[in-house]
Amino acid sequence: MSKSNWNKMANWYDSMVGSQGHKYHQQYAIPTVMKLLKLKPNDKVLDVGCGQGALAPYVKQANGKYCGIDVSKNLIAAAIKRHKKDGMFVVASATKLLEVKELHELEFEHAVFMLSIQDMDPLDKIINQVAKKLSSGGSIVIFMLHPAFRIPRQSGWGEDKQRKLWFRRVDRYMSANTIPLNTNIRDHGKKITSYFYHRPLQTYFTELKKNGFAVVDLVELAEKKKGYDEFPMFLGLKAIKN
Ligand SMILES: C[S@@+](CC[C@H](N)C(=O)[O-])C[C@H]1O[C@@H](n2cnc3c(N)ncnc32)[C@H](O)[C@@H]1O
Repeated sequence: MSKSNWNKMANWYDSMVGSQGHKYHQQYAIPTVMKLLKLKPNDKVLDVGCGQGALAPYVKQANGKYCGIDVSKNLIAAAIKRHKKDGMFVVASATKLLEVKELHELEFEHAVFMLSIQDMDPLDKIINQVAKKLSSGGSIVIFMLHPAFRIPRQSGWGEDKQRKLWFRRVDRYMSANTIPLNTNIRDHGKKITSYFYHRPLQTYFTELKKNGFAVVDLVELAEKKKGYDEFPMFLGLKAIKN
């Protein structure tokens, strides 16, 4: 079960992301997700861990039908306030999608995890539940921090002055790991800890394959800044259900 503290961070997150998305949404996440989705008119999209719904207006603009689910009721309230006209929003955990009555009658052409899959656990259950809400030939699109190069607290930049270059340090990669992140956001005066679920890339492939998906597209995105542009900080992938 996710140790999610996002409900307590909802106000902070909603004001940072706003109605158009944070700069990382605008520059990297949303364009990549939309490109991978390749929506056809009226395709139904399930946004899993939708937060305050930053993706909703973009799906609507592309003539898709949007449904966002999130375990945080405060973030779903923020999503409804900002994006009610762009789709529907439901408080639900990705681990229990089949129990959500608002979704009973619905089947989706696509499921999206935009910067959310590394906030959720257990992965096997989540992929299995999502798979059952997709039509045959349906797709899962994942946009996440690059699991090999950007692992909170366990990776970072270093400068090799002699060789005049920036390198990427990775302390550990192969072990799946729940990483506590100390934030400056306070709840009743106490700083909130958020949790990040690191998994090696092969874990995602294994779980997708187990549930009948094949990866058909993959992109790696680096910042376009000299010295930093050799290391991708984000990864996007698309898998199709056979
Ligand atoms: C970093 S936020 C990303 C939100 C949104 N996709 C975006 O890009 O702004 C991660 C989200 O995952 C949600 N989350 C964590 N565990 C979840 C679960 N088991 N089921 C549904 N949502 C979950 C959190 O509540 C949070 O809104």
